[in-house]
Amino acid sequence: MTFPTHVRLVDVSPRDGLQNESGPVIATAIKVELIERLAACGLKHIEAASFVSPKWVPQMADSSKVMAGIHRQQGVIYSALTPNMKGFEAALAAGVSEVAVFTAASDAFVQKNINCSIQESIQRFIPLIEKAKQHGIPVRGYVSTALGCPYAGEISPAQVAAVSRDLYQLGCYEISLGDTIGVGTPLKAKRMLEAVAREIPMNALAAHFHDTYGQALANLYAVLEEGISVVDTSVAGLGGCPYAQGASGNVATEDVLYLLEGLDIETGVNLHKLVETSDWICTQLGRQNGARVTQAMRHEITKPTTLDLDNSHNGGNI
Ligand code: HMG
Ligand code: MG
Repeated sequence: MTFPTHVRLVDVSPRDGLQNESGPVIATAIKVELIERLAACGLKHIEAASFVSPKWVPQMADSSKVMAGIHRQQGVIYSALTPNMKGFEAALAAGVSEVAVFTAASDAFVQKNINCSIQESIQRFIPLIEKAKQHGIPVRGYVSTALGCPYAGEISPAQVAAVSRDLYQLGCYEISLGDTIGVGTPLKAKRMLEAVAREIPMNALAAHFHDTYGQALANLYAVLEEGISVVDTSVAGLGGCPYAQGASGNVATEDVLYLLEGLDIETGVNLHKLVETSDWICTQLGRQNGARVTQAMRHEITKPTTLDLDNSHNGGNI
């Protein structure tokens, strides 16, 4: 076991979380406040926006306004998704600190998500990454469907490794491995990671696990053991992918933080402030909170104290 001593949490809720909200378009001011609250919790990497087609993802249509509205904190990365050069140029104009390109290990998924094949997506990224380099903007790369595809089913670890290697060789500094539909289990996650880590250094990999089948925390524990030290999360477990019907949000930031605290792994994030933020955003959106830790802390269910465990006071009946 080689758990890392520090984990960088990338909170993707303003993007992955909000992109999938049905109902009315969320006000820009709410998005801005969410991002500012997350930074105040101690999160140093926030995926704040997405420069994609507003026809495809209406909730992200105001990304430029969101970026303009944030009071930026020093040392915080405010990143955005960019599927092509048009998206990159808009992101650059909006002053993002970092961009992320995204493809998948499954052609069928890429086709539904960004209307091209894996190879075509890579071709689109070449000039984008070149331009980003000229402007000193780091580029992250996502590989979706790393543990299964809603259209193609099983995905082999070798496929994930091949696409990840292509993105890394193009110049992505970090590859985030997406269990887009949350179907993975710990052994599968380990095997996939082992295959990818034969091509790319472990410290250039991140885990991006959705929690559809309730396995995300177990999967994370498995890949932390393998040496993963960057984890994508979403406050309150918000979100999903519009092109993966029924997929639930990313594993909740506060649930992961609670796990990491229990493992003595540092993140620099304040759990109590995070729970407040989680409650706040769910109230704004009028939706139930998907984070178990926030539900527990809201109801003031405390961990048993030594006194609670000592049942001698009631005759030893519990
Ligand atoms: P397309 O229709 O093939 O694009 O869409 P096109 O180049 O043919 O252009 C069509 C129209 O879109 C044109 O406008 C373009 O200007 C416009 P028109 O002339 O018709 O008025 N357009 C754009 N507008 C704004 N921003 C842009 C842009 N590009 C073209 N960047 C495209 C291709 C990629 C744009 C489209 O398929 C799209 O936006 N898809 C949305 C993908 C998306 O956001 N998916 C969800 C995020 S990915 C995810 O959640 C997975 C992840 O979390 C990891 C995981 O969980 O696995 C990252
Ligand atoms: Mg995702």
